[in-house]
Amino acid sequence: MRGKFITLEGMDGAGKSTHIPDIIKLLESKGVEVISTREPGGTVLGEQLRTLLLNEPMHPETETLLMFAARREHIAQIIEPALARGAWVLSDRFTDATYAYQSGGRGVLANKVIELEVWVQGNLQPDLTLLFDVPVEVSVARLANARTPDKFERESAEFFTKIRNAYLDRANKNPSRFCIINSNQALDKVKVEVKNIISTL
Ligand code: TMP
Repeated sequence: MRGKFITLEGMDGAGKSTHIPDIIKLLESKGVEVISTREPGGTVLGEQLRTLLLNEPMHPETETLLMFAARREHIAQIIEPALARGAWVLSDRFTDATYAYQSGGRGVLANKVIELEVWVQGNLQPDLTLLFDVPVEVSVARLANARTPDKFERESAEFFTKIRNAYLDRANKNPSRFCIINSNQALDKVKVEVKNIISTL
């Protein structure tokens, strides 16, 4: 039986990555093989593209194309083979991030993202997307305390407002796939929300 594809999304500073080890444990306790991966990245080439994407200034459409180039490799090498053999794939970000950051944040036309999505993914879509949501001020304050910020993490509150709105818009348009998690509460409470959602799978 084909595996399930779960993605984690949210603004920088929303705290999504903290939950990955727990989600892996919860899924493994169901007896499934879990592949944990990330975007941009997940393959040798994808990780090289990630270094460029997170550090080099570039045209917003170049950024979009490189995100999808990394994604094409990721799907071909990691995601599709894993799902086909019945493994579950947990990806820290996927195409919703391109809609949020490159389209919402940078202003790349959504139609161009849709074209690339169809080309690169065919029918592949996540079965479940957990959107870790926090107010922009919280995300910006968390990032101020973080290690050396990358190109995206150095962006303004105005940019992050666009990202958040674009994510919430995606979630509202795809309610059967998205679960919005209030990540602006005590970590234990967020963990309970995550556990409850994963236990329904
Ligand atoms: P991370 O900090 O969650 O590892 O993600 C790396 C950065 O890449 C994050 O700031 C969001 C950005 N990103 C995009 O702008 N577009 C995309 O399609 C993806 C997957 C990530």
